[in-house]
Amino acid sequence: LAEDGYRLWLRYEPIADASLAKSYRSSIGPIEAVATSDTAKIALAELERGLEGLLGGELKRTGATLLVGTGDAKHIAKLKLDLSGLGEEGYLLTRHKKNLVIAANTDQGVLYGVFAFLRQLQTQRPLENLHVETSPKVDHRLLNHWDNLTRTVERSMAGASIFNWFDLPYYVEPYYHDYARACASVGINGTVLTNVNSNATVLRPQFLEKVAALADTFRPYGIQVYLTARFSAPVEIGGLETADPLDPAVIEWWTDKINEIYTYVPDFGGFVVKANSEGQPGPQSYGRDHAEGANLLARALAPHGGFVMWRAFVYDFEIKEDRHKQAYTEFTQLDGQFEPNVSIQTKNGAIDFMPREPFHPLFGATPETPHTLELQITQEYMGGDIHLVYLAPMWEETLEADTFARGAGSTVAKVVDGSVFGHELTAIAGVANIGNERNWTGHPMGASNWYAFGRLAWDHQLSSQEIADEWTRMTFGNAPDVVATIEEMLLESHQTVVDYSMPLGLHHIMYPGHHYGPGPWHDQGRPDWTSTYYHNASEDGIGFDRTATGSDALGQYAPEVVEKWGTPESIEDKYLLWFHHLDWDYEMKSGKTLWNELCLTYQSGVDRVAEMGQQWDSLQGSIDAQRHARVAALLKRQLEDAKFYKDACLAYFHTFSQRPYPAGVNAPE
Ligand code: GCU
Repeated sequence: LAEDGYRLWLRYEPIADASLAKSYRSSIGPIEAVATSDTAKIALAELERGLEGLLGGELKRTGATLLVGTGDAKHIAKLKLDLSGLGEEGYLLTRHKKNLVIAANTDQGVLYGVFAFLRQLQTQRPLENLHVETSPKVDHRLLNHWDNLTRTVERSMAGASIFNWFDLPYYVEPYYHDYARACASVGINGTVLTNVNSNATVLRPQFLEKVAALADTFRPYGIQVYLTARFSAPVEIGGLETADPLDPAVIEWWTDKINEIYTYVPDFGGFVVKANSEGQPGPQSYGRDHAEGANLLARALAPHGGFVMWRAFVYDFEIKEDRHKQAYTEFTQLDGQFEPNVSIQTKNGAIDFMPREPFHPLFGATPETPHTLELQITQEYMGGDIHLVYLAPMWEETLEADTFARGAGSTVAKVVDGSVFGHELTAIAGVANIGNERNWTGHPMGASNWYAFGRLAWDHQLSSQEIADEWTRMTFGNAPDVVATIEEMLLESHQTVVDYSMPLGLHHIMYPGHHYGPGPWHDQGRPDWTSTYYHNASEDGIGFDRTATGSDALGQYAPEVVEKWGTPESIEDKYLLWFHHLDWDYEMKSGKTLWNELCLTYQSGVDRVAEMGQQWDSLQGSIDAQRHARVAALLKRQLEDAKFYKDACLAYFHTFSQRPYPAGVNAPE
């Protein structure tokens, strides 16, 4: 069990390099800390555990001391450090004369500082000139669990839900602490316990008791608990005949319910709501709009300090317009009508967590209303917990995309962190990939995405490369060949999955239902779930015309974006078929025809998976056998899946293109 991955990136294995360990030991010295609160005790215990594991034995008096605490503790106060820029959660790691210091304004900041300090050692960075001063750019950094009370998990394959509702509140699983600890180690400070598609059961008192037990467990780690709110709850569990948000009885019901929740969980964070989407009830069922629905909950939460994340993932069963356009159409017209404690929770792209999407046009389009960026950590459309895909490069692409809302540099990241429009309510959410598998995420590499989500939520300026480097060292050790090989695998893996599944801007061509394999031929009977609607392949060519001659979804972006993406020559190849319908013989930037480029891109995705397998094999003996064997087996399956994706898509598209397969492509059998 020792190497089953349970410890995630918090392994604290002894530092193998004896001279480095010695130098760490002499510069750290014994710990001086005062720990009275639960959070401070957790911080101190973590520090002791980490140092014990990494350096072993007791730290000797060498003249140096590791000073740990908040600015008002005597031993920190006398250092006269400037902690004014750190806010509630930030921390400072620094040297003061011979001593090392971990300081913050709150115990929570100290806890984050402890994890960051240990990270320095885990990644073997020098301590001589240690100076790290950081605070989060986004206030609410949440996991969204798509977990049902029955313990099934929507779109996750890493086992059942970690939340054992049956035994709560009487039995609190010890591993809840490990979950909270892992979240805190990367700065995650909130968790939504229930699925966006959940019914209202969790709002019953019998379940609120259970929620309270989880909230009590997570609180000392700085993690607030949130729930999803089923809009029809007043009818479902309240005995009312309507859930109309303007009905006085409904307003009273929600107000009482929310007051009741706060008697169980005094620091309850608020709600995520999926309304009028994919069959979920919502205000439109009563002729009201999203703002009227969101405000109902927001007003009742406001006195307690809670907030509402109202999801923009809305689309109609009957396609009135390109699904890409619907959220923008609905939400831009409501801008300015939401209560201040409402944030629109918006997926990174306008369709649905495709392997690659251009950024959602809503970012930058609602100056009066903040957005919670919703990312999907679980790999719904990218091979579940079977395929190795490091998602940070994709998230980075969204975060750095320029909306031009207030001129150049108005990136999605800056819309989300509030700086473009001066919003104070800032949030980012990641749909969790965690289950009750011993290693939490099924694929041992899946943990890199949990880790990366937290790190990027804290600081969106970190690069995906830096994060991969940290995670690899903490998870697999610092041996140079191990680090270099795994980092390369991680960093190329996202482009790889795009290439073997939905290259050049293709999207929504997966098999319906499980979303795991290819299904470009599939017709679901409703256009918005039908692959052919999205790729539009015919004898004439392939791609979705979203320019002014087509659906004009492109018109929802700023003029600078329209200019860039408006022609097949100016748009990046990676988004080409998302916005343009082109002839099979269209000449690409590479000089190849579109058909040939498409075939070669699919092939290169497959080839890259084969290479990953070889790279991983080269690490045999450098990584513990258990984790090595598991990843090796998964890579074999990923290769078979990639070939199948490529073969199925090319064989199908070939029926339209009728062009020969170019040299270098293994034609589907
Ligand atoms: C996707 C996913 C659903 C999920 C939905 C959502 O469509 O397939 O399972 O409920 O997104 O985000 O609400």
